[in-house]
Amino acid sequence: MSSPRWQEMHQALTAAGLIVQKSAENRIENLQSVVPLIEAANSSGVRLLNANSVEELLAITSHESEVQSDSVKPNSQTTLPKSENEGPIGRVIAPLQRPHLTPPRPRKPSGFSSEDFPLEASEVDSDIEIHFDITGKSSTEGRISDMQSCFRSRLSQIRDMMLSKGVLPRRPLANSDAWRNRRRHNSKDYEITIVGLASDVKWTRTGSLRFIVEDESSQIMCILKPPNDASPLHASLDGLMDDEIVGVSGWFLTGERDPIFFSRDIHKPPLGNHSKAQAGEEYAVSAAFLSDVHLGSKTFLAPQWAKMIDWFKNDPLARTVKYFVLSGDGVDGVGIYPGQERHLNIKDLFNQYGELARMLEEVPDWVDVVMLPGNHDAVRPAEPQPALDPEVQQDYSNTVFVGNPCDFSLHGVRVLSYHGKSIDDFVATLRSVTYSKPEMAMQAMLERRHLAPSWGGKTPLSPEPEDRLVIPEIPDIFVTGHVHGHFVGDHKGTLMVHSSTWQDQTDFQRMLGFQPKPCILTVVNLHTYASEAIHFA
Ligand SMILES: [Fe+2]
Ligand SMILES: [Fe+2]
Repeated sequence: MSSPRWQEMHQALTAAGLIVQKSAENRIENLQSVVPLIEAANSSGVRLLNANSVEELLAITSHESEVQSDSVKPNSQTTLPKSENEGPIGRVIAPLQRPHLTPPRPRKPSGFSSEDFPLEASEVDSDIEIHFDITGKSSTEGRISDMQSCFRSRLSQIRDMMLSKGVLPRRPLANSDAWRNRRRHNSKDYEITIVGLASDVKWTRTGSLRFIVEDESSQIMCILKPPNDASPLHASLDGLMDDEIVGVSGWFLTGERDPIFFSRDIHKPPLGNHSKAQAGEEYAVSAAFLSDVHLGSKTFLAPQWAKMIDWFKNDPLARTVKYFVLSGDGVDGVGIYPGQERHLNIKDLFNQYGELARMLEEVPDWVDVVMLPGNHDAVRPAEPQPALDPEVQQDYSNTVFVGNPCDFSLHGVRVLSYHGKSIDDFVATLRSVTYSKPEMAMQAMLERRHLAPSWGGKTPLSPEPEDRLVIPEIPDIFVTGHVHGHFVGDHKGTLMVHSSTWQDQTDFQRMLGFQPKPCILTVVNLHTYASEAIHFA
């Protein structure tokens, strides 16, 4: 049980935005006041107080009082010692100028707490469990029968979820049975429900949505009018993705020459409020998320990468980072789009991967890298994509290579990492999704329990006999990249992270008026889910 005095001190430190580790408790409790410590931490940019950093900060405060008592350099700055040309250690990454000594000011509370980091990441063993990765398991031969099997598998998996979680108002009929009995099911009193893949989705001139629902037995043409109280995310206003699985309740309008199914309601797969698993308190480490490094491109931001490496080596918060998840497009690749060569400063693919390996070597060795491919990487573009080739992997250490997408756990925390190519299809189809709001596409994926539903769109898909782009388990953390934005937020209990890029605005993005959000490292505590977005640009 901690003393009231310690509780008061702890409260003051926390209010100032500082994270206090247990190892610092005794030393701090013996101080007369925490104010000089807060001043020194603020001026040095330090956020995490452990036994070492407290000693260093106290050395500063005593040095400062000596300096002031001698009436020398009253305006001198006081920060933790650092080598030449380096910025202050801590949260302020850029600009590189030394900060001025300022009175303590409250910082935005981050949610990190002293109890969350009993150990440094280097003291905790790795705990990575892979649940799904296509590497070495792709079994498609690219035949029509594989594609049929893939769609059947999707329908069966998602329909089973709908049935088991009771999201449908009644047991669905097979399309062929519904059609055979269409004259009976011709009014509100004889409403039925069908489930299938949506396709051929179009808006009519009167603002209704027309689409086909197809199951194993047949296709039925449906029409959906927006209800008066429809939210902008209702299918009738937002749209439907081709080949997503929907449940539809309604009846047949048989008076028409071609009977059509009047859809009173649309049912999505189940997505309740998810309760996140937590890494055990004793394994309270962090995972850092980044994507789209695009090494080899002329727009790769090398000076900012150096700042991040400096942060990894010097910031106490970095000592809590056990995992560094890179969600695809690690290199810019070669021949990805016409004329790419003029945008490359490393024109050889193996040299790009070699240089990325060299740069990742600079990340402290207590950090395990988890690396997925993306659409710029040297693997098949069709998703699910396998991990990078073993010939490429041999240059890397401390790196786990996985496919895209990959479903894995870190200390029991379930992470679904997907590069995010299908965001292009969601932007092209749903009214709620734009490139500046990739989180809306991520939300739409979770709501559909599928990462990339549309066949024949912008996302190349591999017709695996079992559709592994279905989201069978709701992840604790869902992470994507690809569109070079940044987002951290919760959706129905899942922490969604849209990882930032390390590539500056490209000519193509400038032409489209798209402003990327580069050089932001997202760090998530796997015990508390508190997160930090650290800006290096
Ligand atoms: Fe990218
Ligand atoms: Fe990409």
